[in-house]
Amino acid sequence: MSEVENKISPSRKSRRLPPLLSLARRTRYAFHQGSRVALYTLHSEAMRRMNRQLQKELPSAPNVKPNGPVPSQRRMLGDIAKLFSEDMKSVEDGHYPMPSDGTMSPRELFNTSRAFFQDVPEVARRRATGAHQEVNEDLSGFASKLPRYYRQNFHFQTDGWLSEESARIYDFQVDVLFSGATAAMRRRALVPLAQLLRRRDQRSLAYVDLACGTGGLLGPALKAFPRLKGIGLDLSEPYLTVARKRLKSHRATYVTALAEELPFADSSLDVVSSVFLFHELPSKVRRLVISEVARVLKPGGSFLFVDSLQTGDVPDYDGLLSVFPQLFHEPYFTSYLEEDLAGLCAGRGLEQRWMTSAFLSRAVQFVKLR
Ligand SMILES: C[S@@+](CC[C@H](N)C(=O)[O-])C[C@H]1O[C@@H](n2cnc3c(N)ncnc32)[C@H](O)[C@@H]1O
Repeated sequence: MSEVENKISPSRKSRRLPPLLSLARRTRYAFHQGSRVALYTLHSEAMRRMNRQLQKELPSAPNVKPNGPVPSQRRMLGDIAKLFSEDMKSVEDGHYPMPSDGTMSPRELFNTSRAFFQDVPEVARRRATGAHQEVNEDLSGFASKLPRYYRQNFHFQTDGWLSEESARIYDFQVDVLFSGATAAMRRRALVPLAQLLRRRDQRSLAYVDLACGTGGLLGPALKAFPRLKGIGLDLSEPYLTVARKRLKSHRATYVTALAEELPFADSSLDVVSSVFLFHELPSKVRRLVISEVARVLKPGGSFLFVDSLQTGDVPDYDGLLSVFPQLFHEPYFTSYLEEDLAGLCAGRGLEQRWMTSAFLSRAVQFVKLR
């Protein structure tokens, strides 16, 4: 994968700090991110041990064989370090302020960690028995109206996307999977957003984050750009409820809707972002979402995309990506891996302008042609 096409230049406002202050800032960043990596790696290791015990009592899960290279732990830690160094550089280049990822009170951390470990045996049981349709067993309220492809226990998680309990541990689960690097991966989308905002009054930008979940990108975007307003759109009412509670921002509003049927007028938005949505969609729906993004963007507007690496982006990761669907119940991931996203977007008038790989993800900016 070409690392960065069309480099995004530093902000003119970027202020070089005196060397000692710069060193202090880097040290603070390294300490904060390092302790997050340690926290989530410890959880991952504890989960692995629990799973080894649990497997003794569960039917043996089908053998999953990677069809390609799998990176070593060392290689992955190296790529996380590279991502953090790019993140820090973006702070120094003035694209966004120093992040404060996932700062939790000790009580919150304890409760979330406990809820995470309580779900580990349930996830292991579903993985071993192939149970990924439990959310369909007792459909009531909003869930009965949701599309069939959406009503599944994605990631083998309890309740899929359909409860607040699931929403409350979702980010923690993802961080255990990505060793605490999730927020830095999402933040790659803020680099082109920062560039757009240099030429614009933040208050006048019409911005929507598609499939915002619990606010993983919307929150940091509103924090980084203090006059920006944003709409978080998602199909899960419980995930939006948690986003509302977490973000507590009067600049955020929320819409429960399908990404493939956007409730916005033609050519009405300046920026649409989406993080970790496309790999969760059947390929037919992916095409509809791209058409909708192209419809609602103004000419010259940007689609900021972050999702998993695809096959061949970083060939050393191809084998690891190939086992995700079975290990984490990702029913549409295999087709996502081969999807020609640039081609699909180009076919709908969205031209790829910038792309970078960021550990296990790719961040891309598409611009709607005039
Ligand atoms: C993997 S999560 C990503 C959430 C968030 N963007 C993040 O960065 O963590 C996928 C999200 O997509 C939402 N979603 C899936 N299919 C959707 C659809 N067709 N329309 C709207 N939201 C959808 C789910 O409810 C869930 O919140």
